[in-house]
Amino acid sequence: MCGIFAYLNFNISRERRYILEVLFNGLRRLEYRGYDSAGICIDSSLNSSNADVVAKPLVFRQEGNIESLVKSVYQEVAATDLNLEESFSIHAGIAHTRWATHGEPAPRNSHPQASDAGNEFLVVHNGVITNYEVLKETLVRHGFTFESETDTEVIPKLAKFVFDNANEEGDKSVTFSQVVLEVMRHLEGAYALIFKSRHYPNELIACKRGSPLLLGVKELTEEANRASFNDPKSLSSNGQPKELFLSSDASALVEHTKKVLVIEDGEVVHLKDGGVSIFKFDHTKGKCGGTLTRPASVQRALSVLEMEVEQINKGKYEHYMQKEIHEQPESLTTTMRGRLIRGGSCKAKSVLLGGLKDHLKTIRRSRRIVFIGCGTSYNAALAARPILEELSGIPVTMEVASDLLDRQGPIYREDTAVFVSQSGETADTLQALEYALENGALCVGITNTVGSAIARNTHCGVHINAGCEIGVASTKAYTSQIVVMAMLALAIGDDTISSQARREAIIDGLFDLPGKVKEVLKLDQEMKDLAKLLIAEQSLLVFGRGYNYATALEGALKVKEVALMHSEGILAGEMKHGPLALVDETLPIVVIATRDACFSKQQSVIQQLHARKGRLIVMCTEGDAASVCVGGSSRVIEVPRVEDCLQPVINIVPLQLLAYHLTVLRGYNVDQPRNLAKSVTTQ
Ligand code: F6R
Repeated sequence: MCGIFAYLNFNISRERRYILEVLFNGLRRLEYRGYDSAGICIDSSLNSSNADVVAKPLVFRQEGNIESLVKSVYQEVAATDLNLEESFSIHAGIAHTRWATHGEPAPRNSHPQASDAGNEFLVVHNGVITNYEVLKETLVRHGFTFESETDTEVIPKLAKFVFDNANEEGDKSVTFSQVVLEVMRHLEGAYALIFKSRHYPNELIACKRGSPLLLGVKELTEEANRASFNDPKSLSSNGQPKELFLSSDASALVEHTKKVLVIEDGEVVHLKDGGVSIFKFDHTKGKCGGTLTRPASVQRALSVLEMEVEQINKGKYEHYMQKEIHEQPESLTTTMRGRLIRGGSCKAKSVLLGGLKDHLKTIRRSRRIVFIGCGTSYNAALAARPILEELSGIPVTMEVASDLLDRQGPIYREDTAVFVSQSGETADTLQALEYALENGALCVGITNTVGSAIARNTHCGVHINAGCEIGVASTKAYTSQIVVMAMLALAIGDDTISSQARREAIIDGLFDLPGKVKEVLKLDQEMKDLAKLLIAEQSLLVFGRGYNYATALEGALKVKEVALMHSEGILAGEMKHGPLALVDETLPIVVIATRDACFSKQQSVIQQLHARKGRLIVMCTEGDAASVCVGGSSRVIEVPRVEDCLQPVINIVPLQLLAYHLTVLRGYNVDQPRNLAKSVTTQ
């Protein structure tokens, strides 16, 4: 749930100020992953390969967001004789932005965490070490003292312990990667780690298990740049000037390079002398006869990052959430690109999901389809459930990932388990995936992150291709997820004569959807005006049913998570079984009553709420205001009509806009809501 970043320049002169700015910018890009404290480590003076004369690396840590860190670093630097213009032809810096799990946000709990007062080993970490208490006890018995409440602090201390032991046992040539491989043998849990050490100046080590990590390689000469991505020279220490980056995700790399390596679980990546060596961790190969394992390095090819810098900038928008709401016509187009076949003289309209083609038969034969996800991703699956049931005829059940795990609910070999996750790294969903794999289900991933843990560990899947989503509140990923699941329903469902008209209507509806989303975005000002009316409210209810029960849940989730206003999505069919007691003339209630099979029932709900003097805001289909406005007292939001199963994509947009404007008007941070972070990589 944190962001880690590192920068190493080799054979190219870089000033300290430049190095600091690269680290700060890396953290700014990763800030959405956690923003309650941050820290960096840089070298204090020119390094020599003689460890005895390497000065203590400088560590800066600060509570608060990245800008607080930047400010405090420059203030501290100004108070010392540290020269910002000093140049380094090689320098290794590491950085971290934190979302607290163990220990409150405070400088002592921020990263880098150190092995000792001399900063012999320093570590930045994303993830959770589950056996840290046992490790801590052992280290305390060996004389280590701990400064923080973090789980991370055991890691640099363990590295020092391993290093000191190897030296005491006469292994003076122990390498940095040997130390880290030995440390990994003792760690349990999920992690992506970057190590820096005073004993190994100008080197960095990264390793991971569970949490994401990428390496970026920027060649600085034309000749080196031409080396193909499969060419081992791209990673070799060929003496060519280069810059190397490590990052929790691609957004912090794309402004520097598109040559990346997605580091895999169990890999240890050693940056040294401008080269990159990769070792595979093998828990069976540990310390043997007092000597640490010397593993053979493995060859990996670089890949091209399919992301543009513009995607991660706010452009003309003030906030990422605002940008991401408004770019939904484009993100939906990208989601569908190449996957919908319009039909021609001989081709019927159909859907092509390449990632599933070898598994469609098995999915069709499943006894049941189980959707598994958390938060917004769960809501998207809920929105798609009815169409999947209708077109496939297979029972579809819903599971919140954490609840499935808590109950150890039944998952069978005959099930298809569909894991929905924007980030592809949510800990609960990932653990539910492990559970479903153990139980023999066919596992399908629907994610927005190529190479993510969920994408890699499922048997097959579909990328939603919504583009990088940076605002912590998920918006464009939600609508793209629904569209992918509608396409999934079409792909699984039988193309029978009786279903043909329905299928064609949905495919036509999908083609028209981006244009309809563009239309509904015109409600922006209207939603801002509504937000002004609701600005001081304590609470908001959202009633929906059928396809739009999910819209009610998702709309309420958006309002509560960014506008920090209590909000509840309610299944309208349950109104009389409790929620009606809340209704009075003050509590604002949004009722979703767009045209579909549930419309007349929603009309009746409106009547009943009106009879209790409910303060209603009704979302209806364009032209339907008169049919939903009882006594003329309700406020109405009119939205374009689309095929019923796609209506949730349209209906959520005004509620996203409402949540956005409410947040801005209430003066809260839209992109970094209190206590939240984008990917929840801890349970
Ligand atoms: C809400 C939101 C969260 C996520 C949830 C799952 O706006 O973003 O509810 O949807 O944490 O995250 P992913 O989809 O990355 O698994």
